[in-house]
Order: sequence, then C-alpha cells, then structure tokens
Amino acid sequence: MTLTANNLTIRYGEKPIVPNLSITLPTGEVTALIGPNGSGKSTILRTLARLIQPSKGTVYLNGRNIAQMPTREVARQLAMLPQSSEIPANISVWELIGFGRYPHRSLLGSFSAKDIAAMRWALEIAGLEPLADRSVDTLSGGERQRAWIALALAQQTEVLLLDEPTTFLDIRHQLEVLSLVRRLNREHQITVGWVLHDLNQAAAYSDRLIVLSQGTVVASGSPADVITPPTIWDVFGVKMVVVPHPINGLPLCVPCDLGKTDESN
Ligand SMILES: Nc1ncnc2c1ncn2[C@@H]1O[C@H](COP(=O)(O)OP(=O)(O)O)[C@@H](O)[C@H]1O
Ligand SMILES: [Mg+2]
Repeated sequence: MTLTANNLTIRYGEKPIVPNLSITLPTGEVTALIGPNGSGKSTILRTLARLIQPSKGTVYLNGRNIAQMPTREVARQLAMLPQSSEIPANISVWELIGFGRYPHRSLLGSFSAKDIAAMRWALEIAGLEPLADRSVDTLSGGERQRAWIALALAQQTEVLLLDEPTTFLDIRHQLEVLSLVRRLNREHQITVGWVLHDLNQAAAYSDRLIVLSQGTVVASGSPADVITPPTIWDVFGVKMVVVPHPINGLPLCVPCDLGKTDESN
C-alpha cells in the first residue's frame, strides 16, 4: 500500500506549519522523517493518518482519497503510533492491545479467534507477556511505549506510521523495536513511515530518508544520499563527520564537537 501526500498545506489556526508538501511512502518500503524539533514531523504523520485535516491538498491511500474513506476501513489498513498518548485509567495491557482489534470486529461481536491470535502475537512480539494483566498506568515509560507499539501491531495493517517509537526505550529495546518493524516490513511488505531522532538508526533501518525543516522537504533519498555533513549542518546546525559503518558500510555520523567549546574544532 502506497501512501501519498499531494500538495498538502497544514495549519494550526491561521498559522501554516507545512506549506505545499508532497511526499510518498512507497509500498513495502521504510521511510524515515527526520528533522529538528518543531519541523513538522508529527504534524505530517498525523495528517497522513487522517488525524488532522489539511487545509489544502489530498492524502491518497493506494490511490484513494483518504478523506473520503470510511474510518473503519482506514483503520484496517493503517495504524499509527502517536508521539504521546493519554493513558486510559485502569486499563490492562491486554485490554489496551484489544483496542487494536476494533476496526476488525463486527459491531456487536466479542473478540474472534483471529482477534485473540493477533493480540497474543502483538503481546509476545512486544515482550509484554508477563505484564498482560498489569494496569497500563503502573508501567514504566519503556513498558508503556511497548504497550502502545503492541496496540498498533495488533491492528495488523499494511501501513504502519510510528512517531518516535524508540522514545523511553533502553538501547536493547530500541534495537528490538527497530529490527522488529524492519522484519515485519520485509516479511509482509508493510509500508512504514516513522519519525526517528537518531540519524544512525534512521539510516540503518530505513530504505529512504526525508529531511524536513520548517515543514519543507530539504533532502530525500537513500541514507547515503541524505546523511552528508553539509545537509546535517544545514538542517541541524551541527558539525558531523560521516564514516562508513565498520560492519555494514552504511553512513555513520558522529559529532565533530566532542564536548569542546573551542570554535576551532
Ligand atoms: N496543536 C497545535 N497547535 C498549534 N501549534 C502546534 C500544535 N502542534 C504542533 N504545533 C506547532 O507546529 C510545529 C510543528 O510541530 P510538530 O509537528 O510537533 O514538530 P516535530 O514533530 O517535528 O517536532 C511547531 O512549531 C509546533 O509548535
Ligand atoms: Mg514530533
């Protein structure tokens, strides 16, 4: 499934945050949105998921105008992990994951065997089996993040949008989430769009990167095309050196300023 944004203008009130944006998340590819805080990444992802209405332009899901699709149909095909979510009070991890099955359930029906299988799968894959009965509001930040990821996975959609999915996670869980999503993408041709802050992780786990600054695409392409010192300097104002990763050869960027204040560095 391809997700395409055509000439989107997105505003909060009068203020245009994203002017005239056109991007595509191609079928079966992993596309990362990167850019500084406030560059519009979450706004764009939310608009792609139809949570925000653009004031101009159209989002197409496999060629269909998403604004004209029934909500349940969108939710069967597209899941979104928001950057932050309200925690419903007194709800268990298992119940939270169950929300992912709503778009698939018959209106009155209880969970089918297929629903339960999807929930068990999501629970296991997120490493949450021991916590299934725990109330979500008692979880640590990282456990909670994994519960939200499990909710999105239980939806079993062909398009997955993830806004900073590694937030709050320790390095092992970060890598687990990144490689899990990559594996789902490879095995099931899931189309992924995610916001990642770590440029090296974005480069290692994505097919394409889209670099945003003030709601505008300033670079896009393969990690090697995009992760270059001039682009990083232009967008983030940080001096980096880019070296090949010693094992996979992918671009690896490291700051030049290693904590020194001397401008000559
Ligand atoms: N609900 C909102 N109302 C008004 N302005 C908002 C709202 N959400 C985000 N913004 C503004 O829109 C811009 C882009 O925000 P956001 O999409 O969250 O950026 P990013 O995810 O790249 O950090 C920022 O200037 C932010 O302050
Ligand atoms: Mg954001």
